[in-house]
Amino acid sequence: MNHEQPVVYVGMSADLVHPGHLNILREARKLGRVVVGLLTDRAIASYKRLPHMTFDQRKEVVENLKGVDEVVAQEQLDYVPNLRALRPQYVVHGDDWRQGVQKQTRQNVIEALAEWGGELVEVPYTPDVSSTQLNSRVKSTGTTPGQRLSLLRRLIDAKPMVRLMEAHNGLTGLIVESLKEERAGKRLEFDGMWLSSLTDSTAKGKPDIEAVDVTSRMQTLNDIVEVTTKPILYDADTGGRPEHFAFTVRTLERFGISGAVIEDKVGPKKNSLFGTDVAQTQATLEEMSEKIRVGNRAKVTGDFMIIARIESLILEKGLEDALARARAYIDAGADGIMIHSRQKSVNEIAGFCREYQRFHTRVPLVAVPSSYNNTYDHELQELGVDVVIYANQLLRSAYPAMVNTARSILTHGRSKEADDQLLSIKDVLTLIPEGDW
Ligand code: SPV
Ligand code: MG
Repeated sequence: MNHEQPVVYVGMSADLVHPGHLNILREARKLGRVVVGLLTDRAIASYKRLPHMTFDQRKEVVENLKGVDEVVAQEQLDYVPNLRALRPQYVVHGDDWRQGVQKQTRQNVIEALAEWGGELVEVPYTPDVSSTQLNSRVKSTGTTPGQRLSLLRRLIDAKPMVRLMEAHNGLTGLIVESLKEERAGKRLEFDGMWLSSLTDSTAKGKPDIEAVDVTSRMQTLNDIVEVTTKPILYDADTGGRPEHFAFTVRTLERFGISGAVIEDKVGPKKNSLFGTDVAQTQATLEEMSEKIRVGNRAKVTGDFMIIARIESLILEKGLEDALARARAYIDAGADGIMIHSRQKSVNEIAGFCREYQRFHTRVPLVAVPSSYNNTYDHELQELGVDVVIYANQLLRSAYPAMVNTARSILTHGRSKEADDQLLSIKDVLTLIPEGDW
């Protein structure tokens, strides 16, 4: 290896390596010694979805590509920290980043290189192949249970905050799967789904009292799993009897579900948002810890998460009780803690979060801002929350719309008056495309 050669820096994600990447490396090696700055999962997740392969897997592939002399980690989307450290003579990149989400990144590269007289070399974009196209093709071929299962932990590791949206059937699953927005140079999408007991029960016309049995819940899951690839977190209510919970864990793992949340109440439970308006009994700390241990023993994979949900604030048992339970549940092996509140203000949750940050052993923290809905997710992130769940909003928005439509048709004796609130017949026919089998 000749260290006298100019250093040529190439930043890449290299998740799905295609001829476009090879072309860039071919051009780069004509200029000198090629150092690939491989974007970490965290850097990639800061502006788009997680890569299919882990950093180590991608690194192994790139290290073995012809013309690559060295691979270093690029910890941020911004190249500048690595460029200042390495002071390369050249940066080589495809010319497709002049527009779109990477425009500013490119500008920063040009300005940094100017500090030591380096140069940006742009290689014409290779037509007919792009990671975006490949990704949508990979997506249309689906996922495997194992791949999907591991995604929640990977996302929690890679992103400052993971956002889950409730789904209660295939259609709502598809909305969470596909909705994309672009804002301030970032592609926004929900990271995964929450299989809420409230919305799953309500959609079946039943109260949220564990009356919908695990077999029916699995039917809902099956409908969602068939048409989506994102990770799913399952609301397991109280988890039932410990002996039964062990089977639920196994079933969920087989489905490729990433985790189960169990709440420290004694069944049949009532929905938390009733608070103390209805009789609800909290499980003892020991009973709940035992259920966590049973769940952990039942696990087949290391990736499945048992998340312990604390109802102390809901049941007005106070912050100290909530904190003592959090410590005990972590000691019992909980992979995450969900803290719930039904206050309109975030202050109660914030109080818990501040104390939680001081714990010696912490696991990912989950919050459900249904009642304190004026709080932004980034504010929860600043409080140390790792996963935020929008637990019921899709169902709550659909119900009034359906009732209004039914009322309009009933009172007018025809459907024309409701028409402007409806998806057109043409659009509903093509809403779900046929598979490209
Ligand atoms: C659910 O979505 O079913 C939940 C959250 O458990 S809550 O409804 O707030 O209890
Ligand atoms: Mg629930």
